[in-house]
Amino acid sequence: MPRPTLIRPTLLAVALMAIAVGMAACTSPLTTFEPASDAADRILSLYILITVAASIVGILVLGAMAYILIKFRARPGRKAQQIHGNNKLEIAWTIAPILVLVAIAIPTMVWIATSSSRAVADDAILVTATGYQWWFEFEYEGLGPDGGTLVTANELHLPVGRQVAIELRSVDVIHSFWVPALIGKTDMVPNRENRLEPFVPNEIGEFWGQCAEFCGVAHANMRFRVHVESLADFDAWVAEMNEQTRADPEPGSAEARGKRVFEVLGGCAACHTIAGTAAAGRIGPDLTLFGERTTVGAGILPATDENVRAWVSDLRSVKPGARFMPTFADTLSEAQIADVVTYLKSLRVP
Ligand code: CUA
Repeated sequence: MPRPTLIRPTLLAVALMAIAVGMAACTSPLTTFEPASDAADRILSLYILITVAASIVGILVLGAMAYILIKFRARPGRKAQQIHGNNKLEIAWTIAPILVLVAIAIPTMVWIATSSSRAVADDAILVTATGYQWWFEFEYEGLGPDGGTLVTANELHLPVGRQVAIELRSVDVIHSFWVPALIGKTDMVPNRENRLEPFVPNEIGEFWGQCAEFCGVAHANMRFRVHVESLADFDAWVAEMNEQTRADPEPGSAEARGKRVFEVLGGCAACHTIAGTAAAGRIGPDLTLFGERTTVGAGILPATDENVRAWVSDLRSVKPGARFMPTFADTLSEAQIADVVTYLKSLRVP
């Protein structure tokens, strides 16, 4: 009988490893390996430290195991060696893990202590983020009309290079705020205010956020975006968000028809706010400057006309389990829904 060969399993293992390495190179919008803030930089350096420490331990342990397996193996005419008791070795493998744990614990505890006590700068942007089933509300303290609160939903705008301090809340169940490139992940707990470590975004771009705590049927579809932009762009957005009276669309236009459906026929204004118009509902997400949003449905789809139409017509076909909002395909015509989409998309920074 031929001796079993190791060639095939070895080839298989090499092929699997090659696939794993290849897949590891895939980019993901939720990666923590491309930090875009000082806090994310610190998280990544801690992660690298621990990974390197764990790799060294892994290599040493597996190397020692391979050495022992080969050196003391059974050979023709000789049994595998059985060795019992070695005080020196036992002391060594008790002390070594203690040293490893201490080496990991010290930087971890220092990081936790400094991050939870980091001071909020005088010019920091103060934001309260609130979790709802299944979307996010963002309130900017002091940036609203007359120094009040500015409210938006699902897309957070931040200026690059300015410190941000975010307080986390929830109105229903436990959610978790996580923007891998910037900060997180920290739970949003009902009846409790959790503070994120203040952080400074240092790169302009659009970053993905995701609820990171199972919170019900649409948990996986509870996402958001963070737009880090220049101070000028941020200021323009804030100014337009605060516009007290938004000019009415041209009479007879699709926008004007859509506005009427939104405010009267569809009843959308009972639940949604569009600052500067009659719409002032507070049940659903604030839709002021909706046309500036790159996504619809709490970050789940690009805000194309088609996707916004699908959302207004039958949001549960897009996000199963979504709550409260009616299926407007039952009560509005396709033309009316198309007009609402045109109206919403027209709400932009001029
Ligand atoms: Cu909210 Cu998961």
